[in-house]
Amino acid sequence: MKAGSRYPLQVEVLPDYAALSERAAAIVIELLEEKPDAVLGLPTGGTPVGFYDALVASGVSLARARTFNLDEYLGLPRTHPESYYSFMKRMLYDRTDLRPENCHIPDGNAPDPEAECRRYEEAIRAAGGLDIVLLGVGHNGHIGFNEPGSPWDGRTRVVELAERTREANARFFSSIDEVPRRAITMGIGTILEARRLLLLASGSGKALIVQRLVEGEPTEEVPATALHFHPDATVLLDTEAASLLKR
Ligand code: F6R
Repeated sequence: MKAGSRYPLQVEVLPDYAALSERAAAIVIELLEEKPDAVLGLPTGGTPVGFYDALVASGVSLARARTFNLDEYLGLPRTHPESYYSFMKRMLYDRTDLRPENCHIPDGNAPDPEAECRRYEEAIRAAGGLDIVLLGVGHNGHIGFNEPGSPWDGRTRVVELAERTREANARFFSSIDEVPRRAITMGIGTILEARRLLLLASGSGKALIVQRLVEGEPTEEVPATALHFHPDATVLLDTEAASLLKR
């Protein structure tokens, strides 16, 4: 898809975090009912925890689903509790009937990270592309680990994390020095090729970036504004995250 054609962004405001999480789960469950072997792009972080809990609690079968995570830290052992692999194992892989061979996440310890990025893109292609990608958003507007300035047409690649991102993620580690400096992330181009996008934002801390995302002009300085170029992109907000929106 060319960045250039703009589409109306669908915005839904839910009363609170629990309702937001349930709504996101309902959208994914509906997709899985229509297409049990759907290909899901998945985020980590604080925002989607309630979504994973709701998905698991629903008892929906993921036996045929395929999942591709957005990103993974580079150089953090897979067994580290804060690797995104470990997060996904706790949140989803160990709690559902997802088959291990259908759970994909970039290998942050691959001997050749560039080759790993190419392999990951190829695996998404071989799966038939992403049916839906769920996204969180960073305070600086990043999606996946596509930091401000990332190209609209970027593919899966090795990136440097912005200091602001490392500071935000330091809450999961014992000190900021432990937060990796690099990661592998799906690119914005990869994300825009998904058939549907669903961005989740919760809490007053996200209100400013949500305002820039929903009401601002698309700019590579706010990577999440790429959603304006997708024909089927929905932003799910709780009232706090939506508090600075005009309507
Ligand atoms: C994580 C990811 C990031 C997060 C973002 C928001 O896989 O892709 O873009 O979604 O950093 O993180 P939280 O939800 O912790 O505020």
